[in-house]
Amino acid sequence: ADSVPIPEPPGLPFLGNLGEFSANPIEDIVRLSNTYGEIYRLHMGSRPVVFISTQALVNEVCDEKRFQKSLSSVLRVVREGVHDGLFTAHSDEPNWGKAHRVLTPAFGPLPIRDMFDEMHDISSQLALKLARHGPHKPIHVSDEFTKLALDTIALCSMDYRFNSYYKDKMHPFVQAMGDFLAECGRRNRRPGFAPNFLYRAANEKFYNDIAILRDTANAVVEARRKNPSDRKDLLGAMLNGVDPQTGEKLSDANITDQLITFLIAGHETTSGTLSFAFYHLLKNPSAYRKVQEEADAVLGKGPAKVEHVSKLVYIQAVLRETLRLSAAIPAFSVEALEDTLIGGKYLVHKGEPITCVLAKSHLDPVVYGDDANDFKPERMLDDEFARLNREFPNCWKPFGNGKRGCIGRGFAWNEAVIAMAILFQNFNFSLDDPNYQLEIASSLTIKPKDFFMRATLRDGMT
Ligand code: HEM
Repeated sequence: ADSVPIPEPPGLPFLGNLGEFSANPIEDIVRLSNTYGEIYRLHMGSRPVVFISTQALVNEVCDEKRFQKSLSSVLRVVREGVHDGLFTAHSDEPNWGKAHRVLTPAFGPLPIRDMFDEMHDISSQLALKLARHGPHKPIHVSDEFTKLALDTIALCSMDYRFNSYYKDKMHPFVQAMGDFLAECGRRNRRPGFAPNFLYRAANEKFYNDIAILRDTANAVVEARRKNPSDRKDLLGAMLNGVDPQTGEKLSDANITDQLITFLIAGHETTSGTLSFAFYHLLKNPSAYRKVQEEADAVLGKGPAKVEHVSKLVYIQAVLRETLRLSAAIPAFSVEALEDTLIGGKYLVHKGEPITCVLAKSHLDPVVYGDDANDFKPERMLDDEFARLNREFPNCWKPFGNGKRGCIGRGFAWNEAVIAMAILFQNFNFSLDDPNYQLEIASSLTIKPKDFFMRATLRDGMT
């Protein structure tokens, strides 16, 4: 078949299209999608990257017989810190298959059900803190949810308490992680010819941050080795699990890589998602009301219980709609196993990264109609959601694709539903600044920037 050239925005010699990028790359990428349409190619330094932004094209590259996860883009840089940990391993590296087989059972539905009390514990700490703050204190939304998510992943999967709600400052891990990820993005966009000495200070900080991440992970392992337990959690699986296929255990170095991977992957995304959910709800009063009515109807005035989670159907629709409009990981990349045409006409080369721009494909009017840009949780209630996915496969991909999809999806889901239910049961929320306009803070993930709200206790804590 004949191929049609993929549009390429004009670039500068040497720099390629690096000039297109501001501090907020995802907005630049969406802007280029608006200009160039469903597909375009940029030259990042000397490396080409294809960007696609419709459900039809995303659906095509989700075919694991023709495409696989790509690590040529920013994840190539993240690998410097966490090597072949689960997120950044190539699918054919032995440590990917091994860790996937050993660790997946720790995130199955039953273990996650068993984590309910610990998830509840951390959500209650947040609620108590908001109650102490009283109705007049502005709450930095993404900071509070970052503490929630970090403490929850560490407690549930590693039996380790960061105790973020008892400290004024965030744990150094949080700062090091944020800076590390932001620097990974900048390094990915460095021109290939730039000499290293220009970046001496940045390089030094990069390696210092990696050291903080590794030290934190090693402290978690040490704590468990000093107090051995037979908890069947993620850390237990890492330390004791045997791969059924090779008969091998994970190596110590790999355990460090995996722990950092889980601490990072397990909290940036969930905290961003909860922050965006509150942003959307505070801007959409009728959805806000329905969430509170549901929390009251399902939980009443009693404590949240594990059986409640599946009954909180509107809250789940709110989370799905939040992840559609504001996917915390706004893009993921694949590559073709052979040179091939996509969309029946665009030639992509073997190994060339193809980035699925969720921030755009999730707004595809073919799938979501004329009101695709609006926040409407109703379209994400179970039956509607099932219909959309049947008629438009892969139209909603916030957790990635296939065997490289998110291992922590069920974990994040339960954590977010429980937190929202407890918060809405106990508080009324309002915007700190009624005129707040959404701005995005981005590293590997995105969050609302400088977003503050207030919380007023309803009538006594439950
Ligand atoms: C993979 C999103 C929560 C651990 C992924 C991917 C996405 C994603 C898009 C695929 C990335 C790619 O293709 O390059 C999310 C979102 C979350 C979330 C939106 C929350 C709302 C979590 C949690 C954990 C976690 C709570 C840990 C408990 C991982 C890991 C991988 C992954 C380890 C790599 C899996 C593999 O390649 O084998 N996630 N995630 N994530 N996620 Fe999540």
